[in-house]
This record gives sequence, structure tokens and C-alpha cells, in this order.
Amino acid sequence: MKILIIGSGGREHALAFAAAKSPKVEKIYCAPGNAGISEIAECVAIGAMEFDRLAAFAEENQVDLTIVGMDDPLVGGIVDVFEERGLRVFGPRKNAAILEGSKAFSKDLMQKYGIPTASYKVAHSAEEAYRFLKDVSYPVVLKADGLALGKGVLICATPEEASDGVREIMEDRKFGEAGNQMVIEEFLTGREISVLAFADGRTILPMASAMDHKRAGDGDTGLNTGGMGNFSPSPFYTDEIDRYCKEHIYQATVDAMASEGRPFKGVIFFGLILTEDGPKVLEYNARFGDPEAQVVLPRMKTDLIDVCEAAIDGRLDEITLEFSDDACLCVVLASDGYPVQYEKGFPISGLDTFAGRDDEFVFHAGTKKGENGEILTNGGRVLAVTALAPTLKEARAKAYEAAERVTFANRYMRHDIGHVIDEI
Ligand code: AMP
Ligand code: GLY
Repeated sequence: MKILIIGSGGREHALAFAAAKSPKVEKIYCAPGNAGISEIAECVAIGAMEFDRLAAFAEENQVDLTIVGMDDPLVGGIVDVFEERGLRVFGPRKNAAILEGSKAFSKDLMQKYGIPTASYKVAHSAEEAYRFLKDVSYPVVLKADGLALGKGVLICATPEEASDGVREIMEDRKFGEAGNQMVIEEFLTGREISVLAFADGRTILPMASAMDHKRAGDGDTGLNTGGMGNFSPSPFYTDEIDRYCKEHIYQATVDAMASEGRPFKGVIFFGLILTEDGPKVLEYNARFGDPEAQVVLPRMKTDLIDVCEAAIDGRLDEITLEFSDDACLCVVLASDGYPVQYEKGFPISGLDTFAGRDDEFVFHAGTKKGENGEILTNGGRVLAVTALAPTLKEARAKAYEAAERVTFANRYMRHDIGHVIDEI
């Protein structure tokens, strides 16, 4: 089979890596890809939002299956464009990707179908938002409705901070159209867990759990980022929680979307928080997480391509997902200054030390090839160094040892990925 993967980050590198393990796959293309992906796939210089060019490429090259990694094209309707042209594609249609594309939609869905989540109000104007703020307790959480590169969530400790937040989102339009409406919601406390699940519109198959580290600095301080590292499985995700979530959250979400005439095919990312009142949904995404894919896919024993095909054909009930017992931990190597301002274009050394290993991987996030074939930094998150080992502690030690082998100017990483493991 010929596969096309859409995206250019560490998640897409992990998807390409998983696809390459399938005996069915003879050729992988990735648009637009990056320097690491180009070692296992042919990178094609077409942007992820150029739907017609991507579809034409898939037709001309007889691509059998396209897998969309990123949120923007999914929310923008890439799957509908491919399907209209008779191309096989894995991901939700536009009317289902709204689960991620509009936080107001997802909150209203959860409320309507009794899926546990924080209490909330949707404000359609700044005036309405200021009015709602009069009756909330603090801290309060403000969320821009649309996609905002993971930065559209503000946790406000005081009424002044909340007013500033409303102004940024709805008046200054800091996140553009994502701020046409906003969600004002109750602040929840508890441990956060990410669960990715394959869905075929009817059946949902959760993958192994993961735990992200979103803040830029050690000790969970500093700004929110796309994710500075994570690990799988989460030791806090017990069988009891799994049973509860399968019934009240995962299956309930797929059923709710089907009832709304928006069957969800693809991957649903459940951002969960374990509160004193039980697990609740913090957010949905309509795709694999980044860097969740980098720790979940290396543990998956089931053929990724088989699962994607079964999801497209509505046959997920025939699949049993299997994961290795090994733990996996990933440390993101970023450019100093991320997520605000950073320099790029520096040569990276040490990447060759991963060659031939099946327990340590380096997934490229923001890299490109220089004129002489050298690999250069080309983004905020540069690499995701990932290790598999029998226990989380061993995986952590290995991932950090491996991370130290990779060097570039202005390299920055958190040194405490997996710190909660020590609390157990
Ligand atoms: P989201 O993009 O919705 O996942 O939000 C990003 C981060 O903000 C989450 O991972 C949480 O750490 C935090 N967050 C979102 N909603 C809430 C909430 N209701 N209570 C507490 N923290 C939240
Ligand atoms: N790591 C969080 C996300 O992919 O949204």
C-alpha cells in the first residue's frame, strides 16, 4: 500500500514510524514532513491546508490511504474533500472535527448527553462575558472557542485577571476568530490524563493512557506549551477509572456524536482530569496528541494501518488493540525561548546514535535539512527523544541519557518529565 501522512511534527514522525512497521506498506509520503520523516518517507512540499493539491497528489500517485495528523486541516474539512474525490482517508469529517474546533459545541454536547465535565457558560459577546464573570468563583477558566495552538485557555485567579482575559480573547482578538465566542468554566483540580481512542462512528477503542507536561518550566511552572514531554501508561489510570470512562465518557461521546448526525471516525483525544467527584472531560481533540503519539504508538503492537482501515469501514468491533507492557517516556528538546520567541537554523549533532535501536527513538518535530544535508533546528519544539523500558523509571533514565547525546545551540528541555512517578 501507498500511504500519505499529512503534517510536519513529531506526531507525524511517530505515525510514519508506526506505518512503516506494517508489512502492507510499501511506500510512505508525508506532506509537508520534516528532516526526520524524510528518512522513512518521501516528503512532498505541499502545505497541510492545500486540500486540492493534496488530493490531486494522492490521485496521481495512487495513494491507498491518507492519514491526517494535524487539527487545522481536519477542522477545515480535508476529509470531506478527499472523500468527495473517492479517496480513502483516516480522520473525522468537518462536521465531526468540530468536537475540537469549537469548545462551545463540545461543552453543549457534554451537557446535553450527561458526559461529566466542568460547569460552564458560553459567552457570545464581551459584554455577556463580563456579565457572567459577576457570578463565578475564582480561579475561573476562560477558553477561546476555536483553535488557538493550545494557547487559548486562561486560568484566572482574580476578577481583574479574568477581565483582562475577556478583553484579550473577545475584544483584542488575540486568537483571531477563535475568540468569536468563549467558554467560561469552573476550575477543576486533580491529575490530568490523556487517552487517545480510535472511533468508527459507532465503536470506540481506547489506546494506552498517557500523561502530558504542558508547562514550559520544571515544576510545572511557566507558560503553557504544546507539550514538553510525557509518558505512557499513566499509573493513575486504574482499571476502575478505565471502566467508568469507557461507559460514561468514551462510548457516550461516540453515541452522542452519532445521535447528532455527526458520526466520528478517526482518533478522539480525551483530555481527562481525575477530580474528587470522578473523571471529567477537560477537552476533546479530533486527532492524535503531540507528543502523546510519540509515547503511545511505539507501545502499540496492533498494525496501525489495519486499525485505520477498520475505522474507515466501520469494523472496529473486529479489532483488539494490543500494547506492549513496556513503559515509554519522551523528553522534548526545544529551542530556548519556546513558546514565545526563539532562534532556529542551528546544526544538530548526535542523531546518528539512535541508528538501529528499537528501544530509543528520536522523533523530529521542527527540523530541516541544510544545504549540505546537515540537520538544522527549525521550530520551537525540535525533537522528541523517546525510550521504551520495562518500567517508567527505567524509561525516564534512558530517555534523559539519550537526550543528553543530542546537542544543538540553545537546546532547552525540562529536567523533570515523569516527576509524578516518584510520588507513587
Ligand atoms: P485545554 O486546551 O482545554 O486542554 O486546556 C489546557 C489546559 O488548561 C489543560 O490541560 C488543563 O491543565 C487546563 N484546564 C483546562 N480546563 C480546565 C478546568 N476547567 N479546570 C482546571 N484546569 C483546566
Ligand atoms: N499534547 C496536547 C495536544 O496534542 O493537544
